Amino acid sequence: MQIVDALLRKEKSVAVIGLGYVGLPLALAFARKFRVTGFDILPSRVRALEEGRDPNGEVEASDFAQRDIRFTSDPSDLSAAGFFIVTVPTPIDAYKVPDLGPLFAATRTVANALKPGDYVVFESTVYPGCTEEECLPLLEAGSGLKAFRDFQVGYSPERINPGDRERTVEHILKVVSAGDTDSLEQIAAVYGTVIQAGIYKAASIRIAEAAKVIENIQRDLNISLMNELAVLFDRMGLDTRSVIETAATKWNFVPYYPGLVGGHCIGVDPYYLIHKALSLGINPQVIRAGRGINDRMPEFIAQKMVRYLAQCGKNPSASRVLVMGLTFKENISDLRNSKVADLIRELRTFSLEVDVVDDQASPEAALGEYGMALLPEPDPPYDAVIVAVRHRTYTTLNADWFCGIMRDHPILFDLMGCFDPASMQGKLEFWRL
Ligand SMILES: NC(=O)c1ccc[n+]([C@@H]2O[C@H](COP(=O)([O-])OP(=O)(O)OC[C@H]3O[C@@H](n4cnc5c(N)ncnc54)[C@H](O)[C@@H]3O)[C@@H](O)[C@H]2O)c1
Repeated sequence: MQIVDALLRKEKSVAVIGLGYVGLPLALAFARKFRVTGFDILPSRVRALEEGRDPNGEVEASDFAQRDIRFTSDPSDLSAAGFFIVTVPTPIDAYKVPDLGPLFAATRTVANALKPGDYVVFESTVYPGCTEEECLPLLEAGSGLKAFRDFQVGYSPERINPGDRERTVEHILKVVSAGDTDSLEQIAAVYGTVIQAGIYKAASIRIAEAAKVIENIQRDLNISLMNELAVLFDRMGLDTRSVIETAATKWNFVPYYPGLVGGHCIGVDPYYLIHKALSLGINPQVIRAGRGINDRMPEFIAQKMVRYLAQCGKNPSASRVLVMGLTFKENISDLRNSKVADLIRELRTFSLEVDVVDDQASPEAALGEYGMALLPEPDPPYDAVIVAVRHRTYTTLNADWFCGIMRDHPILFDLMGCFDPASMQGKLEFWRL
């Protein structure tokens, strides 16, 4: 029998393991058609979800309505599942080496619930080979079953873009892969019931894994090139964004912009491929160089600020700077691996007094993640302001508002190209990345 039919008839259920930015929207999408068990090891998250609240603020309360879903942190609730989807974090450790601990733990949980005829699809971002070389043996050892004979394994990379209300999981083309053509068709049919944007069947699990990781590496590298150019053009007194806009008038120039590359995807995934490459005796120099350039941008911006303060006749160690935005990107609450936090630390090494506001982030999360207190409102007067994240609430501010919270010789740093330089001219010292 086709697995999709068993799921549609609710004889078996879908289990989603890890209910974060990726897992929760996916579980809720599947719960329109199938019976779903949403499993997470964090009981506090499960409690919030049971009340119809997404702690990440990505999913609306109304999206929980009329869904056939049960949230749990009890692994014994997974026994009725026939289609497991693993969406747990794949971070790096302090040495920038992949930390596969959560993935292995989740795989062991699935292995204990696995039965003949079941499907396991991994969605977490990994390096090519990880599913078959690392996860599959754990599934076999934990279940006593044989992969591709007793149960099927697939990989379907996730492309969700937190904060994006239009490209939701149903509206992003879904890549699926499997061990053979029959199970590929079955997995494609299951995803095809909820994904409206279409299904792309990759040639193999390793190709799907590799495709996901290079999507993010390409973006990391494109931004790193612009960051390298931004440092160079800044030394030459050229406005980088004006250079890029001018170059983009050519048909085949692809506009990317400089910026802080944080978060748990673009700044992290390259290390997964680097790790695999090193194990094969290959040193991926371009990928590593790009990572290094992007990681050094907070230092460059902090030094630039100190120079500006000094040039405006201000003593940096007696100056107060307001940083607006701490999340790793615009219009979301996610603070993980924020490079703005690195920038704030850099600024403080120059003894600057730094205040931070962010109307999207939770003060508790900022304190927990970085030990940084978020102010509910700016506490003027400041000597300089850095708009570090393009939150929509910041893009509507103007020169008068910024001048109103600053002392003489106000300085505004616009790291994300939020403002038209012409609208600032003559009113304050304006610098943009
Ligand atoms: N967030 C994104 O934009 C995005 C986009 C594409 C791909 N990805 C990838 O998807 C994966 C998940 O990312 P995320 O952002 O959703 O992570 P997340 O941290 O938001 O959520 C992961 C959830 O998994 C839970 N968890 C951890 N270990 C577990 C275990 N052993 N068993 C059950 N639950 C466990 C955590 O409590 C958490 O709720 C990662 O590999 C990431 O790289 C993320």
